[in-house]
Amino acid sequence: GCIPSKALLDSSKLYRDIAQRSKTHGIHAESLRVEVAEFLGRKDRVVKQFADGIGMLFKGNRITPYWGRGRIRPGNEVIVDGMDGKQHTIAATHIIIATGSQPISIPSVAFDRVMVVDHAGALEFDQIPGRLGVIGAGTIGLELGSVWSRLGAHVTLLESSADFLRSVDADIAQVGLREFRRQGLHIELGAQVADAKVVGSEVRVRFSNPEGDHELVVDKLLVAAGRRPFTEGLFEPEVGIQIDKRGRIVVDESCATDVPGIWAIGDVVRGPMLAHKGSQEGIAVAERIAGHVSQVDFNKVPWVIYTDPEIAWVGQGENDLGLAGVPHKVGTFTFAAAGRAAAMNETAGHVKILAHAETDRILGAQMVGPGASELIAEVVLAMELHARIQDIGRVAHANPSLSEAVREAALAASRRAITMLNH
Ligand code: NAI
Repeated sequence: GCIPSKALLDSSKLYRDIAQRSKTHGIHAESLRVEVAEFLGRKDRVVKQFADGIGMLFKGNRITPYWGRGRIRPGNEVIVDGMDGKQHTIAATHIIIATGSQPISIPSVAFDRVMVVDHAGALEFDQIPGRLGVIGAGTIGLELGSVWSRLGAHVTLLESSADFLRSVDADIAQVGLREFRRQGLHIELGAQVADAKVVGSEVRVRFSNPEGDHELVVDKLLVAAGRRPFTEGLFEPEVGIQIDKRGRIVVDESCATDVPGIWAIGDVVRGPMLAHKGSQEGIAVAERIAGHVSQVDFNKVPWVIYTDPEIAWVGQGENDLGLAGVPHKVGTFTFAAAGRAAAMNETAGHVKILAHAETDRILGAQMVGPGASELIAEVVLAMELHARIQDIGRVAHANPSLSEAVREAALAASRRAITMLNH
C-alpha cells in the first residue's frame, strides 16, 4: 500500500494544486480533467518499477524466490504450495516470518470488493466516486480520502473516537482537522457505525453520534478501521509459535520467537505497523543471524501521515512526558513565519520539539506542515546521536528552507529564537 498510495497522493495533489492553488501564483489553467485510467496507470508503473527492482536485487544477491503459499512445519521446514501447481519443501536453519497484516473487518459491514472495499480496492476505483464514505479517520482513511476528495469526490469519514487522531499530539491533530475540513473532507467524530448495506448502486451506512441516528448514502465505502496481523494457515500448531491476544506472533526484543531459528518481523509482531519499522527489524535479524549485535529502537521510529499538510512525529509527546513526570521544555515554530513556506504559499502548520529540561536531550518532535515527512529525519538523527536541543539551533540551515522551522523550534525550546521577544 505504501508506494501506490503515495503515487496517487502526489498525482492528486498536482491536480488539486493546478485546479485550486495555481491562480494565487498567477498561473491560470483551463479545461483541466483527470483521466482515471492514466492516473492509475502511472501508479502501476511506479509500483512495477520498484517490484522489478526488488526482483533484480534477488537475482544479484542469489536469492531464490518461491511464489506460493508457505506453511511452517515442525523441524523448521517450509512447505510451499506453489503458484506453479507444485509443492516445494524447503528446510532452513533460520526462517523469518514477514507476513504483515490485513484489514480489520467490521461486523455488519461486509467487504464485497466492488462497493465496500479495503485500501487495495480504494487504490483501484475505475472512476472518481461521486460520494465516498470512509470508516475510520486514521492513516489510510485520511490518505485515500484525500486522494479522491482532491479529484472531486464528496468524502465523508466516520470516526468512532471522539478525538481526532488520538495518538497524535493534540495541537498537531487540531491543525490537521482544521485543514482537512477546510479542504472539504467531511469528518464525523464519535460516529458509531451500526451497519452498511449495498442497495442497488449505493451503499447505505447507518451510524449514530451524540446528535442521534443517521444514514450516510455513498457510491463507494472504504473500510479503514485498522489492521491485524496475518497468520492464517502460516504454521502447524505443533511448531510451537505463540500468538498473543491481539493475534500477534510473540517475539522477544530481538524478534526471536519461542522456536529456535524462527524469527518474526513487521506488522505481524508488536510495535508500530510501519513499513520502515518492518524493514529495520528485517535488517537487524539478518545481522543477528550473521553474528552481529543489532537493535531497533521504536522510540526513534518516525511516523508520517502523507496528507496535505503532512503530519510527522517521533519520540515522546507533551502528553507522554507529562504523564511520566519528565521535566521538559517545548519549542514551537509556525510555518507562517518561515520564508520558504510563504514562498510556497503553504504556511499552515507548525513544528514542535521537546527536550529534557535539565539535560537538554531531545525527547521528541511533532510537526504538521509542508515537507514534514522529510523534516522529521533531522530530529530522528539528532535523537540517535544524543544531540542536545541547542545542537540543532547551532547548525546552519539553508535559508530559505523548510528545515529552518526545525531549527527555529529548537531555538525556541531554549528561548533563543531570533523571532522571540525575550522581555
Ligand atoms: P489506523 O489505526 O491508523 O486508523 C484506524 C481508525 O479507525 C482509528 O482512528 C480508529 O479509531 C477508527 N476506527 C476503528 N474502528 C472503527 C469503527 N468501527 N468505526 C469507525 N472508526 C473506527 O488504521 P488504518 O488507517 O486502517 O491503517 C492501518 C495501519 O497501516 C496503521 O497501523 C497505519 O499506521 C498503517 N499505515 C501507515 C501508513 C503510513 O505510514 N503513512 C499509511 C497507511 C497505513
